Amino acid sequence: MRNVIGQAVSGSDFFERPQVISKIRRAIRNGSSIYLSAPRRVGKTSAMNFLQDNPETGQHYVYVITQSIDSVDGFYKELAKQVIDSPAFRTMSKVTDTLKKVASGLLQRINLKVSVPFLDVSLDKGEPINFQTDLEKLLEELDLDGGKLIIMVDEFTETLDNIFLKHGKQEARRFLQLFRELMHNRKLANKVQFLLTGSIGLQPLVKKLDASDLVNQLQYVDIPPLTEEEACTLFRKLIELEGIQIDDETVRFILQKIDWLMPFHVQLLVQEVIDVYESNGNPIDRQKAEKAFQQVFHQRNKIYFEQYYERLKKRLEPGAEYLFVHDVLNRATEEIPLEKSVVHDLAVKHGIADNYKATVESLEYDGYLHQTDDNKAYRFNSSILKIWWKKYVS
Ligand SMILES: Nc1ncnc2c1ncn2[C@@H]1O[C@H](COP(=O)(O)OP(=O)(O)OP(=O)(O)O)[C@@H](O)[C@H]1O
Ligand SMILES: [Mg+2]
Repeated sequence: MRNVIGQAVSGSDFFERPQVISKIRRAIRNGSSIYLSAPRRVGKTSAMNFLQDNPETGQHYVYVITQSIDSVDGFYKELAKQVIDSPAFRTMSKVTDTLKKVASGLLQRINLKVSVPFLDVSLDKGEPINFQTDLEKLLEELDLDGGKLIIMVDEFTETLDNIFLKHGKQEARRFLQLFRELMHNRKLANKVQFLLTGSIGLQPLVKKLDASDLVNQLQYVDIPPLTEEEACTLFRKLIELEGIQIDDETVRFILQKIDWLMPFHVQLLVQEVIDVYESNGNPIDRQKAEKAFQQVFHQRNKIYFEQYYERLKKRLEPGAEYLFVHDVLNRATEEIPLEKSVVHDLAVKHGIADNYKATVESLEYDGYLHQTDDNKAYRFNSSILKIWWKKYVS
C-alpha cells in the first residue's frame, strides 16, 4: 500500500474500512438521499471512489465534484454532463424518444465531446428550458432495467456556500428548494438517489440560511476515526515495504500521540517514521518515534495544514467572527479544557454574543473541537491540529 499523502485514494491504496462502507451501503438501501458528514481530510472522496469501483448488483454510480460551482444553473449543468458521460447512461438499452430529445439538447449545450450510441445530434432538440428542468426530465426518462443511479455530489456544501456568498441568501435557499424537489420527485423514487458530501458543515450553514427544513429529509452518515486496531494495521501496511523494525508497543505509543486517528494523520506520521529510519536506522524505539512525531510539525508539512486553515479562513467573516475563532482556538490549545462560559465571554468581547453558536458548531464539525463528556467545555480533537495551531497560527 502506497503512502499517498494529500490526495484521495482508490484501488489498492484504499485502506478498507468495512464498517464505514457497510454503513453507507445500508443507508443507500434505505432509499432516501444521504449526506456523508465528516470534516476535512477524513476520507470522504476516497470512500466515494471505493463505492464507485465496487458497486453492488444493480447500482450505478456517477461522481460529480462541484467545489468551484457558484450558480444553480452551473450546478445542474455539471450534473447533466456527468450523468450523460457515465457508462450506465451510455449503455442503456431502452431509450425513449423523449429521452433522446432531452439528452441531445443537453449534449449540445454542455460541450461534452462524447459519443452516445443512441443519440443523434441532428434531432430536433425542442426548446431548452434550463439545466435543472432538463436534467430532471432526463432522469425521469432513465431506464436502467430496475437498477439504480446513485449520483454522488462531492463538495455539495461548498457549492451552497458559494451560491450564498455570490448571490445571497434568497438564491441559496432557492438552490436547496429546487434540489429538495428533485430528491422528492416520485418518478425518480426507485431509480435515482443522491449521496452528498462537503468539507464544511451543512447544519451550521443551513442554520445561517434559515433553511434547516430544506435538508431534513437527508440521512446523515458520519465517518468516525479509525479504531486503535485499524490504525495499527494501517500503520503496518504503510511501512510494509520499508524494512522498518518497530514493535507493537511503540506503534501504539506513537499512535496515541496523534489522538484523533484519521488515515491522513497516520500517513503524515508514517512519512516521518520512514524519514527517521532512513537517517537513524533500526529499530525504531520510543525515542526515535518521539522524534518522528515532532517532525510532523516541520515546515515542509506546513502545506498540509494550510489546507485546513484556508478552508476555515474562507468561511469566516472578516472582523469579529475571524478574531473570535482565533481567540477560541488559541485558548483551546491550553492544557485545561475551554469552558463554555469562557467561549461566551469571548463572543461578548467581540460583539457577536447573539450568533456565535453556529460558529462554534462549525469548529466542531470541522474537526477542531469536541465537547468534553460533561458538555461544559471544549477540547481540541486532534493533538496534531492543536500543536500545529499553536506553532504556526496563534
Ligand atoms: N481509507 C483510506 N485509505 C487510505 N488513505 C485514506 C483513506 N481515507 C483517507 N485517506 C487519506 O486521507 C487523506 C484525505 O482523503 P480524502 O481526500 O479522501 O478525504 P476528504 O474527506 O475527501 O478530504 P477533503 O475534505 O479535503 O475533500 C488522503 O491523504 C488520503 O490518502
Ligand atoms: Mg474530498
